[in-house]
Amino acid sequence: MTWLVGNSYHAAGWRHDLAWDRTTMRLDVLIEVAKLAEQAKLDALFIADGNAVRNMDTPDLFEANTPSARPAVFDPVTLMAAISQHTARIGLVSTASTTYETPWSVARRYASLDHLSNGRAAWNVVTGSNPGDSLSFGVARHPDRDERYGRADEFVQACIALWDSWDEDAFVERKDIGQYLDSSKVRTPDFRGKYVSVRGPLNVARSPQGRPVLFHAGQSEGGRQLAARHADCIFAAAVNVEAAREFTTDLRCRRADLGRDPDELRVIVSVAVYLGRTEEEATGLYRELNSLITPALGVDFLGKAVSEDLAGYPIDGPMPDLSGAVVGGNSIRGQLDALAKAENLSIRQVYERVVPSVGNAALIGTAAQVADMMEDWFVSGACDGFVLGASINPFTLRLIRDELVPELQRRGLFRTDYAGTTLREHLRLPLL
Ligand SMILES: Cc1cc2nc3c(=O)[nH]c(=O)nc-3n(C[C@H](O)[C@H](O)[C@H](O)COP(=O)(O)O)c2cc1C
Repeated sequence: MTWLVGNSYHAAGWRHDLAWDRTTMRLDVLIEVAKLAEQAKLDALFIADGNAVRNMDTPDLFEANTPSARPAVFDPVTLMAAISQHTARIGLVSTASTTYETPWSVARRYASLDHLSNGRAAWNVVTGSNPGDSLSFGVARHPDRDERYGRADEFVQACIALWDSWDEDAFVERKDIGQYLDSSKVRTPDFRGKYVSVRGPLNVARSPQGRPVLFHAGQSEGGRQLAARHADCIFAAAVNVEAAREFTTDLRCRRADLGRDPDELRVIVSVAVYLGRTEEEATGLYRELNSLITPALGVDFLGKAVSEDLAGYPIDGPMPDLSGAVVGGNSIRGQLDALAKAENLSIRQVYERVVPSVGNAALIGTAAQVADMMEDWFVSGACDGFVLGASINPFTLRLIRDELVPELQRRGLFRTDYAGTTLREHLRLPLL
């Protein structure tokens, strides 16, 4: 079970009285989140990331921005390096895109973080869901999805080759004979692909986990194939337990077809959590937060989720047909297109469902009720774990630590202490 870090997950959560008053560029707040997660014995913190400030062309929306749209955030690996110095066990999962960076810089950053954290680093491999990111790198057009995934596949292979540059015992540091390293224990990867090329060796010694844990967040055909080939963990975006089960079964089959052990893949489902000390408190908070979403914000949020500008359509009219693929994320687009058509929903009705859960499932209730839902998903094979989007921080985070985790522990569904020190150990993945 991982934990979505930082700001309140609900788009209006930051405005609630129970939320921290100021969080922008606050390392102390993020360290507090990490410590809460570690006290709860969670596997990891997860930090999503993008590479552009959005909504600048719509001044009203820009001013009403939400922290979850990330107009001002730390570079995630730099942040995780700082957090690593204030924690000892919690895994540190952060995002980097393969579309504009180079394998050398990404491999070096994550190997460094793995050393700095004593084996707690993970890279969430994405190809970038926001087409506007391209301009931040001086590229006029975001490549289409096939090209992005083609590059991502080569990119990950190149990073793996770089991480494997040095044997664990390559740096002998023999003072007596003046030998710093053993040259028989280095390889010189020379990766040449269609999209990326790199010559090693990496200038970072083999890291404590051998290689950082690889997460992937894509859901499309290309995303699923990339995960099956390379990932240790995949984030699933599923609106309900059936969709999650279909996704998990599909990923395990793809992995087995590629000759990789299907049971060594961890499928982590993203859910929004609305916890209360009573059911009334939970549902009340859910309603209260949703009432803070203006129609303009709701339409914009939905538009981003489905990669379509919906501002020109009547809000109480039907959703436009979204069956065509676009440059950007497509899985939520497809799921919401099907939902709107099946239930004949207006744009307003769709955003009222999507905003609270960011298009995923919303778990609303007391710790026992939320634990029931998680148990159902987990025991029925829909997933191996959850990335919990805490609706109001720190209120929800504290309830996760103080009520939800103890409830899961009572049911024998969650650890009472860490068995190891590395993230691979927490996730029961082999050390490489
Ligand atoms: C839990 C989760 C976390 C994600 N984090 C990021 C992120 O940090 N940065 C990003 O650009 N996209 C992120 N995405 C979006 C995915 O990278 C991807 O674009 C999306 O799931 C659609 O899949 P596709 O690109 O294969 O169509 C995330 C998706 C999920 C489900």
